[in-house]
Amino acid sequence: AQIHDQKLVRGDGGELHQVAEGETPVLTTAQGGPVADDQNSLRVGARGPLLVDDFHFREKIFHFDHERIPERVVHARGYGAHGFFETYESLAAYTRADLFQRAGEKTPAFVRFSTVAGNKGSFDLARDVRGFAVKLYTQEGNWDLVGNNIPVFFIQDAIKFPDMVHAVKQEPDRAFPQAQSAHDNFWDFISLTPESMHMIMWVMSDRAIPRSFRFMEGFGVHTFRLVNAKGESTFVKFHWKPKLGLQSVAWNEAVKINGADPDYHRRDLWNAIQSGNFPEWELCLQLFDQDFADSFDFDILDPTKIIPEEVLPVKPVGRLVLDRMPENFFAETEQVAFMTQNVPPGIDFSNDPLLQGRNFSYLDTQLKRLGSPNFTHIPINAPKCPFHHFQQDGHMAMRNPVGRANYQPNSWGEGPRESPVAGFPHFPAEEQGQKVRLRPESFADHYSQARQFYISQTPAEQRHIAAALTFELSKVETPVIRERVVSHVMNIDETLANTVGEKLGFQSMPKPADAAMPTRQDLEPSPALSIVER
Ligand code: HEM
Repeated sequence: AQIHDQKLVRGDGGELHQVAEGETPVLTTAQGGPVADDQNSLRVGARGPLLVDDFHFREKIFHFDHERIPERVVHARGYGAHGFFETYESLAAYTRADLFQRAGEKTPAFVRFSTVAGNKGSFDLARDVRGFAVKLYTQEGNWDLVGNNIPVFFIQDAIKFPDMVHAVKQEPDRAFPQAQSAHDNFWDFISLTPESMHMIMWVMSDRAIPRSFRFMEGFGVHTFRLVNAKGESTFVKFHWKPKLGLQSVAWNEAVKINGADPDYHRRDLWNAIQSGNFPEWELCLQLFDQDFADSFDFDILDPTKIIPEEVLPVKPVGRLVLDRMPENFFAETEQVAFMTQNVPPGIDFSNDPLLQGRNFSYLDTQLKRLGSPNFTHIPINAPKCPFHHFQQDGHMAMRNPVGRANYQPNSWGEGPRESPVAGFPHFPAEEQGQKVRLRPESFADHYSQARQFYISQTPAEQRHIAAALTFELSKVETPVIRERVVSHVMNIDETLANTVGEKLGFQSMPKPADAAMPTRQDLEPSPALSIVER
């Protein structure tokens, strides 16, 4: 296009457009300057050197050079969709949260599903936990329920998270394996972390290879609190139940699909939503009080434990429908920033040490990943309710306080003021104790619920667990690690342990692992391990 052909035309709304020949918009620089030639850089003569005058070339290349942002340190590969949450009935008796006050209330939602271990470009059907992160844009700010498709977790204390994640991801010297847990570092960590045994049973089960995101459950994992207008607290566990039910693939299917179509889960969600086949989940609650919590041998603050639904049935309270794909993957799915600490008044935390560590971590990770404290200015992260504050400036600020006052209290009658009535009332739980670093005895039983889960599986599902454990441990080269894992499985189910041991060619079975919590000494590298050649 020649510059002199470019002209301005007025659109329907009276706005001006720059157009090339016909009605096609003219290509511009990011500064709005019309571009004459986007195919050839500016040069001296046909075969001469390029010229620094070429501001279009420079801007285009520099922008391209900066396209990547760090991928998420975990859950790097994910796929999201928009939708809404609809409340079935008022939950005012339990919570003052505005979204739960009125039957039929619809709250806009964005959900991102993910794998945990693999990199952004890894394949969808890895044997892995799936993230199930829900952002609800409520009238009292964003509520992020950042859950997984498995109701328990590997560790009981957030201080162990970096070790756990380092161990599951590719090994630092060789940079493999990617996107799977079948390797020495992962199983070494697991074998030294008996609290992970319940989670391991789930991860070795068919739950870790779901047929699609549409056939998965989601769980808030931790015990949270609901707090009503009178300030009364009820403990709560959050569950998402898929309307389509649960389905998984078999391992040999997963392996083939990963090779043939690494985007299998993405494609499924895209196709379903684009064809009007909107996936739906029910939000279900387990509600209980302190007396009920005290009736268990395990601790409701321990994220490696569930409350069995046979003991405490779930109460459906609303539905989540996903009915719109993002217009732009990067702008929305990649830049969405979930944070467990985003809760509206009426939803509060328990003392689960994993949850409290997460509440500390997510703001930090979003600052690093998105690069500016103004990440809430990105539309996908901005609240959809009115909001007013005095935060200002910083990289990429899109909005600043309006007027003279950027502080409060002020004498100008400008800007927002805090409100003890409308504002978030932290539940005034009474706390007392010495500063210590220790794990309570109530967190010590690592095998009972692992056993319950295994027993709850059908014979075919139990065979899948045995096959998964055998396959995974067959990729572990260090014999003592295999043996340590099997010694834990002995405490879960002896037949399962024997089956795996036999398939791995053990000459004799290891003794069951010591069921006590490991002491600092237990965690010293064992002499056997240090002499094994890798
Ligand atoms: C990301 C769930 C434990 C740190 C995520 C995501 C999910 C999730 C679903 C992906 C969010 C998205 O789709 O963008 C969970 C669950 C946990 C857990 C259910 C345990 C019950 C932890 C712990 C920590 C942690 C203990 C650290 C102390 C992170 C970080 C990210 C992340 C740093 C990356 C966030 C980002 O860059 O956007 N987690 N997580 N998580 N999680 Fe967790």
